[in-house]
Amino acid sequence: MAENEPHLLDVDLLTAAVPHARLAELRRREPVSWQDAESGGYWAVLKHADVLAVSRDPALFSAEAKGMQLVDYTDQLPTLLSLDPPRHTEMRRRVLHAFTPKVVRELEPRMRAIVRATFDKVARRATCDFVQDVVRPLPLEIVCDVLGVPDEDRARVGDWADLLAGSADPEIASGGKTGTQGAIEFGTYAFQLAQKNDPARGETLIAVLKNAELDGEQVDLMSFCGLFVQIAIAGNETTRSTLVGGMLELIQRPEALRALREDPKRIPSAVEEMLRWLSPVHYFRRTATRDTVLRGQKIAAGDRVVMMYASANRDEDVFREPDRFDIARAPNPHVAFGFGEHFCLGAALGRLEARVFLEELLTRFAAIELAGEPVRLRSNELNAWKHMPVRLVPAS
Ligand code: HEM
Repeated sequence: MAENEPHLLDVDLLTAAVPHARLAELRRREPVSWQDAESGGYWAVLKHADVLAVSRDPALFSAEAKGMQLVDYTDQLPTLLSLDPPRHTEMRRRVLHAFTPKVVRELEPRMRAIVRATFDKVARRATCDFVQDVVRPLPLEIVCDVLGVPDEDRARVGDWADLLAGSADPEIASGGKTGTQGAIEFGTYAFQLAQKNDPARGETLIAVLKNAELDGEQVDLMSFCGLFVQIAIAGNETTRSTLVGGMLELIQRPEALRALREDPKRIPSAVEEMLRWLSPVHYFRRTATRDTVLRGQKIAAGDRVVMMYASANRDEDVFREPDRFDIARAPNPHVAFGFGEHFCLGAALGRLEARVFLEELLTRFAAIELAGEPVRLRSNELNAWKHMPVRLVPAS
């Protein structure tokens, strides 16, 4: 790493833009690259095959040891993402049923209804914010449905999820609101919700989580809250940024937008390309449990190992013309949803939300134009936008 160069997960670097040219150069020169950071150094894993290798070996590259974020995890809330097998396998099994293909498919009419109601609200406006007014309601309502959050609490849940995802952004974490405080409030809310014995909630995730066991013990309060909060955050911002960033690409490529309008069957592969292109989650981290070697690079026990999804998703050994946005790309083995043990539980849900949203959008509006500069979320975890002014022209 050159002197005075920001490390690859520097928040200001990633807020400005993902440094694709630098990542490409590093993939050639130093594919497992040491990065010095204030919170301690780490190995950035840049090649697709190496991201797969790290993901598929939780015994060697542990999520549980120090968590999956760059800063060492100390409170050990057993969220799914920060557990290794066998605890992870057991916990994941408990929540899997809420994300089966059948359950997800059945949500499609509800998704269409949410999107149509949202479009009704913005259709007559001269301009609107594509992030907040147009995209945000869909993933928020759906994740609240899945979790079993009552209607009257959804606005608060949305605000907490935004605060936690945007805790490094002064526009969001301001006026005394901090990510830590938000996490405590949100976790407390989750607990209070679980305490309410509401039979109407039936088999929602809250009911299931509340009764789940881990290591033969009832899941404790902290674990329950950790899982609830994690799913609420995971289900929101990632789907939102896929649609916002994806639409931004389409606005700049009218021929691709036209192709989707002419043949909506192309939407699913366009969604995959949006995921590859954007990598809505910048990274997840593991910790080496013993000395090892990755692509010739020695890694010591205890070292931080960071999987850089955006780099893996532009790896020229896997993707032809990786810097071309190609809505028909096939095959498209991107790792935007991760891989292996922790492969995104909400992948089918996120994909369906994206397809339904785009189908409805392209039917309802004849044109979508930028009406101002998009504003990015300040974050080194999520590749996201917080505002994108647009003009939506209804189809006649
Ligand atoms: C569409 C955009 C989404 C993207 C890009 C995304 C990305 C990811 C990534 C990269 C991981 C980690 C995978 C790994 O470590 O190998 C993950 C895990 C997870 N995601 Fe997503 N996600 C999305 C949508 C969702 C939705 C809609 C939900 C739920 C409502 C969700 C829930 C989860 C959960 C619970 C995990 C943890 C799984 C585990 O540790 O076993 N995600 N996601």
